[in-house]
Order: sequence, then C-alpha cells, then structure tokens
Amino acid sequence: MLDLINVDYSTQIPNNVDLANDRQLLRALGKWHPGYIDWWKSMGPEGFQEKLVYLRTAISVDPKGWAKFDYVRMPEYRWGILLAPQEEGRKVSFGEHIGEPAWQEVPGEHRAMLRRLIVIQGDTEPASVEQQRHLGKTAPSLYDLRNLFQVNVEEGRHLWAMVYLLHKYFGRDGREEADELLVRRSGDADKPRMLGAFNEETPDWLSFFMFTFFTDRDGKMQLESLAQSGFDPLSRTTRFMLTEEAHHMFVGETGIGRIIQRTCEAMKQAGIHDASDVAKVRALGVIDLPTLQKKLNLHYSLTLDLFGSEISTNAANFYNAGLKGRYRENSINDDHRLTNSTYPVLKFIDGNIQHMDEPALTALNMRLRDDYSEDCAKGVERWNKIIEKEGFAYRLALPHVAFNRKIGEFRNMEASPSGIVLPAADWLKAKDEYLPSTSDGDYIASLMKPVMEAGKYAPWIAPPRQGIDNKPGEFEYVKFVA
Ligand SMILES: [Fe+2]
Ligand SMILES: [Fe+2]
Repeated sequence: MLDLINVDYSTQIPNNVDLANDRQLLRALGKWHPGYIDWWKSMGPEGFQEKLVYLRTAISVDPKGWAKFDYVRMPEYRWGILLAPQEEGRKVSFGEHIGEPAWQEVPGEHRAMLRRLIVIQGDTEPASVEQQRHLGKTAPSLYDLRNLFQVNVEEGRHLWAMVYLLHKYFGRDGREEADELLVRRSGDADKPRMLGAFNEETPDWLSFFMFTFFTDRDGKMQLESLAQSGFDPLSRTTRFMLTEEAHHMFVGETGIGRIIQRTCEAMKQAGIHDASDVAKVRALGVIDLPTLQKKLNLHYSLTLDLFGSEISTNAANFYNAGLKGRYRENSINDDHRLTNSTYPVLKFIDGNIQHMDEPALTALNMRLRDDYSEDCAKGVERWNKIIEKEGFAYRLALPHVAFNRKIGEFRNMEASPSGIVLPAADWLKAKDEYLPSTSDGDYIASLMKPVMEAGKYAPWIAPPRQGIDNKPGEFEYVKFVA
C-alpha cells in the first residue's frame, strides 16, 4: 500500500499521488516540465539561479513535520505534487449537492466552472513570481533574500498543484490550459495575467512585504474557500497549499513589523516625537509611518478588487454547484444552501455609501471580502502594538472599502480613506496624500541598497527576532560561492 503521508522522491516529480503508476499523468507532466523550467529560468528570480539557497522542501503532508531545510539551487528545487490526506467518507458540505459523497472525479455538469476556478487560481501563482523577480538585487539581508526565494519556489509549486489537477482530471483542454499558464506574463500588454493586482509592479521591498501581507492573504481566503470544495482532489490540494501560504503571510507581516520597529527606534534615538514629521524621519534614512500607511492603502485597495463584484451570479453558481464554499464553511451555523437568506452588502446609492440586504447567494464575494478585511485588521493591530510599545501615538488603519477601487460597487466614484465621498477634482488634489506619490517611490527606491553580508541588515529594517529553522543571526542563508 502506498504511503500517502510521506512523499515519494523516487520519481523526478516528488509526489504523494502514486505518480509512478499513473503513466498517462506522468507523460503529460513530463511534457509540461521542460516548459516550466524554461519559464522559471527566464521569469524566476533574476541573478540568483546558480546560488545555493537554504530552502525548505516538503517531504510529507503531516502537519506536524512536513518540511526539511537544505541548500538548493532554485532550478533544482523539487517541485512536487502534494495533497492533504483523504478524509474517509467526506461529503459535499454546501450547495444543491449537500450531503452527497464528495466527488473523486469531475462532476460532468460542472466541468467548465470547475476548470475556470482552477485556471484562475493557477494563474496567480506564476504571476507573483514574475512580479518579484527583480527584488533579489536589492535584498536588505540574506535572511530576507532567502524568504523571498522560499515564497517564489512555493508559488512555483502552487502552479504545479493546479497543473496537476488540469492534467489529471481535464484531458486535452486541461493540458492546453496548463500550457497557457506558462504563456501569460504579469504586466504584459498582449498576454497579461488574468487578475489586475497580479499585473501591478512590485518595485521595492516595502511593496513585497505589503504584497505578501495583503495579496497572499487574498490567496489564503481563496484557498480556504476552495478547500471546502465538493471536488475532493481540489480540496486536498488547496488544504496542503494553505500550509505553505502561512509562511508567505508571515514574511509580509514580520517584514512590515521590522520596518516599523526600526523606524520607531530611529525616531526615539533622534528625539523625534511626532511620527508624521516626514522630512525629519526621512533624514534618518528610515521609512516614515505615513509612507507605510500610503503603501498599505494601495495594496489593500488593489487586493480588494481581487474579490470581484460584491454581487455575483458566478459566485452563486460556484457555491450552488458545491465547488467553492465560504471561509470556514463548516463552522458556520446555517443551512449551507443559502437559498432563503440575505447578507448586508455595502453599496453606492444616490451618492451615499450604505448597506443593503441582498440574497446571500449572490453576495458571497462580499462576504469573503468581509472575512478578509477582518483578518487584515487583526494584522494591522499587531503592527500598531509595535508602534504603541515604542511610545508613539501614530496608528495605521485599513482604508475604507470604497477607497481607490476599480471593480465592483465603488469603481465609478472616489472616496477618501475614511470613506467620505469625494468629487473627482478633490480626489485628484488629495491623491498624493492617500497613495504613494512619485517622490515617495523615489525615496523608497533610494533606500533599496543590497546587503549581502551574513548577519547584516539594511539600516531601514530591524533584524528578525528569530532565524529561519532556528538558525543563528550570522547564518549564511544564501551562499554565493558554491
Ligand atoms: Fe500561492
Ligand atoms: Fe503565497
């Protein structure tokens, strides 16, 4: 009997899906693999492909001990196919098929919808690698450089996870979609990635940390709702991806936390009491808190757009079909069909932002977005604790959901971060107060000087409290001499 907890490394593609005995799948993945490696080498981290990076690789899907750490050259990383263990007797837990046994094969009537969900998720994974490919050159430390690459190789593995589903369960059109995932490019005018935020630039490390805090957290919400899926292979795949995703959000949250720490320490040392005195703080060579707030405003609003329109029949169809559930579906106490319930949706009506009760089924995007905002707010509070502990009155806050939106109810209006509706002219005047301006970007760019000496950190960020894999401060996370 095959051991489905531990990973089989005897094939080129590590897996716990008995790949060695699935000739058809092996053939499909074997054909796709060279294209993937080409993509990684041309679109993956620039300038570091030959370096030895201290990375974790999954060797098991046991949540208590699933990874091992070692030095690896990134193109030789063992990207694999890893599914959380199958739950005996699992059932569809929502929608019109509620109570039926979970599907082990694609339900024919929902095939197109299911494929679309997988492709949309799959497209985000390589996109973020492309967005982050230049960051290695300006890493603030070897510790951060390693974390960047860890996130990158795992996003690569998430692409594998989705390609596995396409190859295994969708035949020819699945293979075509898998090929297309290697053709689209983040920010490309002709072949862009599918979702807006994944075509934006990630020009500096502040953007990277904000991205991993906000946008990887959207990833978490999407994966959580796909983990509820009645299509069991999708549920098992995404459940394991969530284990990896946690580290990406850790990188973002602690990255910003360390910037805040450093800024507060520098302000204290210089005797600055007013954290909003941008010029004085910048003279210290650290990132002022108002600029952090602007970056936060940008990344939060861009990421909210990823949740789609507040009212969506697609979302209702995904749910009805049992393909995509709600965040923590199983701990919600209702009928899990939602045919007769409503949900309060924030709308823009007659020039006012107000709540309206809408059918709960079509309001599922709004609901997931609310859960997301709540999760974000907790992280922002943890940042505020650092500021508070250092003795400053400044507070960071999430902007209003109507602020800077391109999709949904608020796409054709402007609002301030506090949610006050603004005429277009006022918005234009105030924009640079709300979002990073060109000069903010120039200032941040001026700080992005690489620090590649083990144990040393750029002057705008504090060292982490703990090393990766409990390594000491001087540890060489990336080796330049192989
Ligand atoms: Fe991912
Ligand atoms: Fe991620």
